[in-house]
Amino acid sequence: MEKFKPEQLQFSDKAISHFSSMLEKEITKNSIRIGVKKAGCSGYEYFFGYEECQNDDDTVIKQDDCTFLVDSKSFEFLKGSMVDYTDDGFNKGIQFHNPNATALCGCGESFTIDSSETDLIKRSEVKKKIKILPHEELCPEGVIIDALDGESILEACLRNKIRIEHACEMSCACTTCHIIVKEGFANLEDASDDEEDLLDKAWGLEARSRLGCQVYPEDELTVIKIPKYTINQVSEDH
Ligand code: FES
Repeated sequence: MEKFKPEQLQFSDKAISHFSSMLEKEITKNSIRIGVKKAGCSGYEYFFGYEECQNDDDTVIKQDDCTFLVDSKSFEFLKGSMVDYTDDGFNKGIQFHNPNATALCGCGESFTIDSSETDLIKRSEVKKKIKILPHEELCPEGVIIDALDGESILEACLRNKIRIEHACEMSCACTTCHIIVKEGFANLEDASDDEEDLLDKAWGLEARSRLGCQVYPEDELTVIKIPKYTINQVSEDH
């Protein structure tokens, strides 16, 4: 049985033979890139494909005649994983056995990671801070959280366990992620027409209202207030 190596990404013999045969068919590409990207209904999903070029931040893993490239951010998610290949009828394909994944979605293709466990949040990635004013249910004391590069305000809140409603899974089709930007509003990107239309339906609309899933913090510190009710709560109560 393969020994668990917490700091490494390992491949089973079956996975290696599968990737070897893939590479044999590909004349121009000599490596396989493996990584993790934001997507899916649980937050992240795996990807892999042929690669020609190695980047500076890549971890290079050579096993038998295969070379794998993993970018530094993905490697934090994948450390300690075993990549396997199964060929038993319905379940044919690459499988990741990832000890960092805390939950798999129903479709099995995406997963969630508890960032405090994986040390994903590196200082260099933390660019902005978001102060959330006290909200009776979601954060009674108020809190200041870090926002990673490329994270929307809603994504940063959810990662920090501030569970703002997001009924449409961030596709700009509900208004449940309505927030009011108390500081840092002026430098935000303008709202799209779709966002403006949805905001018109929001409970407690103010001049500085935005949808948390559509807006990315620009200032070093953005201060937000989460309205007391969402549109769903209001319609349930009345
Ligand atoms: S989560 Fe639905 S609009 Fe933001």
